[in-house]
Amino acid sequence: MELGVHAAPLDFSSTYPIPDLDEGTASLHALAHGAADAPQKIYSRLQQPTVSRFEGALAKLEGAEHAVAYASGMAALTAVLMTLRVRHPEDDRPHVLALRPIYGGSDHLLDHGLTGCQVEWVKPEDVARKIRPETRLIIAETPANPTLKWLDIEQLVADANGAPVLIDSTFATPVLQTPLAHGATFVLHSATKFLGGHGDVLGGIVASNDDEWAAAMRHVRVVTGACLHPMAAWLCLRSLPTLPLRVRRATETATALVDFLNRQPAVARVDYPRADHPLLGSQMLGRGSLISFELTGGYEAAVALMKAVKLCTPAVSLGSTDTLIQHPAGLTHHVVPEDQRIEAGITAGMIRLSVGLESEEDLARDLAQALAIAATSAPAENREPAAQDAATPSSEMA
Ligand SMILES: Cc1ncc(COP(=O)(O)O)c(C=O)c1O
Repeated sequence: MELGVHAAPLDFSSTYPIPDLDEGTASLHALAHGAADAPQKIYSRLQQPTVSRFEGALAKLEGAEHAVAYASGMAALTAVLMTLRVRHPEDDRPHVLALRPIYGGSDHLLDHGLTGCQVEWVKPEDVARKIRPETRLIIAETPANPTLKWLDIEQLVADANGAPVLIDSTFATPVLQTPLAHGATFVLHSATKFLGGHGDVLGGIVASNDDEWAAAMRHVRVVTGACLHPMAAWLCLRSLPTLPLRVRRATETATALVDFLNRQPAVARVDYPRADHPLLGSQMLGRGSLISFELTGGYEAAVALMKAVKLCTPAVSLGSTDTLIQHPAGLTHHVVPEDQRIEAGITAGMIRLSVGLESEEDLARDLAQALAIAATSAPAENREPAAQDAATPSSEMA
């Protein structure tokens, strides 16, 4: 309102006029070292007004002092891992604990040593035992992708014994969960999902109350150039006012569809948080709009289901206005080593559904016809998804 406009302004400038060189140099110095703003704008890789506006809005929603936005969720996670080297130059390979399951791309990034961190995979019950004085970060996703298991953030923070905890809260959004209020140090979102909300944006954002760390995050963004485009920031900003409505409506529809899926003979099991989950009402304010389910016909039934849906879109990603259906073992988590995938509960017959804003009746009708086709197409011998190619480029992950 103070700008005298109703919709947020959108500035596409990549560079800005610098009439006063002394002021320009001082501003560049500040921004290049992680300042959030400076009197003179310099270059949009250093600071961008529309992106800053989105960061301010998300920080408020997460109850954080700072938020730093990136070109994608993966760029945001990479930046967090890179800041460990900035904050601890004495560490050759910063020690990180990570909990599975986690989004397949994040799993791949952590598992392949690309960021120079020494990553140890742990189960939630082993965190307290595996934590070391030199552990620099603990990474977990709750709700977890794709099993939808919930982790007790306060318990994890207690077990971390002072080590920083990063929660990927993409599935929850700040509408359902605010991890910093439960003691987490960082909260990460793939803004590509619910924050963008319409399947037309790629972005990532991390929020925290740690001033030094926020400066390091901006510093890493300046030098790596993993910036969020202003148009993407604007689309995210535009989508935030409808976020609570979208999340609540999709959650209501998902809850109704769970009952429907539980009655289908082609469905062996539905994974959806229970109505009496101990964290419901305290950590999570709703059960969310993602559902995973196991098909009795295994992989062949999954292939048939993905082909047979007409209203649901067979596609990766989630949190859009429309319903997306996908096969984690073959797509989002394909890059995870098979034994780890299976141990994490990601089976060949598992389907993940991201419920959108269509009517419950239309979705149930579509799923019923597709499940009927899937039920008839499953042979007795189940195939597995195609074997992994070690050289799979990470751009194939979503
Ligand atoms: C939970 C979660 N975190 C992070 C990411 C990565 O985000 P992006 O695709 O925006 O890089 C994804 C992508 O699917 C995700 O599901």
